[in-house]
Amino acid sequence: MEDSRIALPIGTALDRFIKKYQDQFKYATGELSQLLRDLALAGKVVNREINKAGLMNIGGAYGSINPQGEEQQKLDILTNIRFSRALTKGGEVCGIISEESEEIIYTGNHDGNYVVAIDPLDGSSNIDVNVSIGTIFSVYRRKSKTGMPVTMEDMLQPGKEQVAAGYILYGSSTMLVYTTGHGVNGFTYEPSLGEFFLSHPNMTIPEVGKIYSINEGSYNSFEQPVKDFIEHCRDNNYSGRYIGSLVADFHRNLLKGGIYIYPKTEKSPEGKLRLMYECNCLAFIIEQAGGAASDGVNRIMDIVPTEPHQKAPFFVGSKNLVEKAESMYNQQS
Ligand code: AHG
Ligand code: MN
Ligand code: MN
Repeated sequence: MEDSRIALPIGTALDRFIKKYQDQFKYATGELSQLLRDLALAGKVVNREINKAGLMNIGGAYGSINPQGEEQQKLDILTNIRFSRALTKGGEVCGIISEESEEIIYTGNHDGNYVVAIDPLDGSSNIDVNVSIGTIFSVYRRKSKTGMPVTMEDMLQPGKEQVAAGYILYGSSTMLVYTTGHGVNGFTYEPSLGEFFLSHPNMTIPEVGKIYSINEGSYNSFEQPVKDFIEHCRDNNYSGRYIGSLVADFHRNLLKGGIYIYPKTEKSPEGKLRLMYECNCLAFIIEQAGGAASDGVNRIMDIVPTEPHQKAPFFVGSKNLVEKAESMYNQQS
């Protein structure tokens, strides 16, 4: 079998790329390929809406609260509808965990073999200030028999069971970055052609990173190992960079080398980020790119979830930095 790490030339259209490497998927029936295409199409629609947000009165708060108790933005709701509709109509997905839906979304596609966990719009506090935002997703193969209603066991699988994960970054240009467990590839959207093209084949994170991304405003409520790690970064003159959109911070660190941290805080004693549709997806990508992801003590993808909206402390990025942060926890214990 051909390895997707030997990528097609830069400029290859996403559809062609997916088709070319379809036989690398374990089951290779074409369903996962179609699912990825559905996500990319919904991403294009969302991209169009985000670009016009300032003109279309779709910025600002919607007036409702999501399962995490956070205020929902109009675009949170809209993107949730776009992605869940695309995945439901596509037919390959039997269940969806979404940040913006308290309950699991049962698509009714009992013949669908996949489940998806998704953060439809990440960094939503940055919408109104025209700063990069994103979509994060992960895909699992169902455990129960095809043809039956999806079960909780299908939905709550550890990250190491992911068959695909990715994100769409709506930034200075829009990019789709994804993995199916054979390396990481990045595609840039060409709006006049309405197509994603391969622009970043075989992405790898620099082994030694010198950027740290953490909300230092919460410094006083961090655990001692996190404070020690920040001290280490300061002592070494590392650059602090924090956008406040996980996808954007992650993407920069993936390209330049660095670490993103959202630790436990007083306000969020379990961490703020959600295991199923933020941490696991980016953990799969970073490991495929040669980096690491941890909760400070455990590998993120080994954590067995017990509920759809569960949170985890998150340390993700270059190996040297994630290992250094973990060593601060080891020293403490
Ligand atoms: P979301 O918009 O999906 O709720 O995620 C926001 C997350 C993440 O994107 C970001 O890095 C983090 O929240 C920022 O939190 P702080 O403002 O507490 O730093
Ligand atoms: Mn998010
Ligand atoms: Mn979100």
